Amino acid sequence: MWFRTVVAVGAWALLATGAGAAGQAREGSMAGGHMQHMATMGSGKGPQTAAVTDTREPVRFPPRIRAHELWSMRDHLRTLQKIQQYLAEERFEEIAGIAEQRLGMSSFGLHGAHESAPYMPEGMRQAGGAMHRSASRLARLATDAAVTGETKPVLQAVADLTARCVACHDAYRLE
Ligand code: HEC
Repeated sequence: MWFRTVVAVGAWALLATGAGAAGQAREGSMAGGHMQHMATMGSGKGPQTAAVTDTREPVRFPPRIRAHELWSMRDHLRTLQKIQQYLAEERFEEIAGIAEQRLGMSSFGLHGAHESAPYMPEGMRQAGGAMHRSASRLARLATDAAVTGETKPVLQAVADLTARCVACHDAYRLE
């Protein structure tokens, strides 16, 4: 039933703005108040995505592990934010440390990977592994940058790391 409501809200949004998706995207930054208003009416996913079919594969974790996984995810985002802050401040050693400890191959204990991995489909496990390897690679490049001052490879590595988050989010959701 929620789906019908969301579709109805989405249709209303299209009528109200008198524009298609392109128009909405263009207006996005200007129509903050309007968007906020609509968000309170929707399901939380937002009216822009209402007509999109969710093709992500649902994955079921036991409740305790699910809660821990989502905590981990919020920590991932917090870490990514810190990395960007350190980038702006050119503090490459700090980037290396936090990328490796909080997201890299050294973060498995922190994120309880051994507990959640058995519940993941193979593709999700691989996406997780790719993200951890990408973070460790970022840590190595940041360590180099601390010596050479070469920032471009670090910027590229942050983009690559973020792409690993996006890839898994596009493919899986938790039930
Ligand atoms: C191996 C897969 C995978 C990777 C890699 C991954 N995520 Fe997630 N993330 C998920 C899943 C699954 C969810 C739950 C989404 C849902 O059910 O709608 C999620 C949810 C989240 C959430 C919401 C947490 C909450 O409390 O609801 C945030 C924030 C997040 N991820 C950030 C990140 C960031 C940042 C990265 C990369 C550094 C990342 N994730 C990498 C699978 C992944």
